[in-house]
Amino acid sequence: MKIELTGVPETLLWNLYHRAAEARRPDAVLADPKAVELVDSIDYPFERFGGGQLAQWHALRVACFDEEIRAFLARNPGGTVVALGEGLETQFWRVDDGLVRWVTVELPETLEARHRLLPDDPPRRRSVAASAVDHRWMDEVGADDVLITAQGLLMYLRPPEVKELIAACAERFPGGTLIFDAVSRGLVKRSQEGKLKSAGGYRAPAWQWGMDPGEYTKIASLSPAIADVRYLPLPRGRGVFTLAPWAHRIPIVRGLRMSIVSVRFHGLRDGGAPG
Ligand SMILES: C[S@@+](CC[C@H](N)C(=O)[O-])C[C@H]1O[C@@H](n2cnc3c(N)ncnc32)[C@H](O)[C@@H]1O
Repeated sequence: MKIELTGVPETLLWNLYHRAAEARRPDAVLADPKAVELVDSIDYPFERFGGGQLAQWHALRVACFDEEIRAFLARNPGGTVVALGEGLETQFWRVDDGLVRWVTVELPETLEARHRLLPDDPPRRRSVAASAVDHRWMDEVGADDVLITAQGLLMYLRPPEVKELIAACAERFPGGTLIFDAVSRGLVKRSQEGKLKSAGGYRAPAWQWGMDPGEYTKIASLSPAIADVRYLPLPRGRGVFTLAPWAHRIPIVRGLRMSIVSVRFHGLRDGGAPG
């Protein structure tokens, strides 16, 4: 199947390709047969992404999200996961417990491509064609037992949009949680200078927002409805990635890396959320 996306939507193929590249290995840190199936069925010059050197790192990153989602579903059977900017993520198939309600919020052009490959399956799996920064998508999601993910998305938004989105989620989903990843400020700068290019020649659109690892605690100041903010370490991988859970303590890696952050919102009963 031919996929003709450009600009930011095309970046979803980079993520998909790396997940599939890792999942093909016998010693993979992520089982993702659906990603392999998709890459095999899409007509796209994946070689421009290079040899998949970043595959394990990508896989560990999404495994970190998966783990948080599984823990959320164990605590909230039948809860709702809202995946902002989901692209061709196959996370539902990795974490499905048979009860989860899953809502994809994506730009219309990306959603059209997703639906051709991964059609909705209501009532458990549905989607909203909207920009995450147009907060009307929040009206389409019930307020109870919600976990929102923004995996590989916020770096493509403008800084005020990121702050408004986090604050609005906190205010609209009492008791909910948002998990997002952020690139460091150094990486944003290198991206804007056009210095990030894959071995195969692909250059993603410039990132707009980033946050240094030590800054995650500042997120709490975005809204009084935020109860706490946690830094999520990557799971342990193989080879040099055996050290992945401690990467944030290694100075040379620290400036280059991404952080994954979980933001928990006050529930109505603990009085932090607006009425
Ligand atoms: C790097 S991809 C990440 C895809 C997926 N989350 C993953 O981890 O594989 C970025 C995704 O964000 C989506 N996107 C970009 N801007 C968006 C916006 N304003 N609202 C919703 N989605 C957006 C793109 O269409 C694309 O699917």
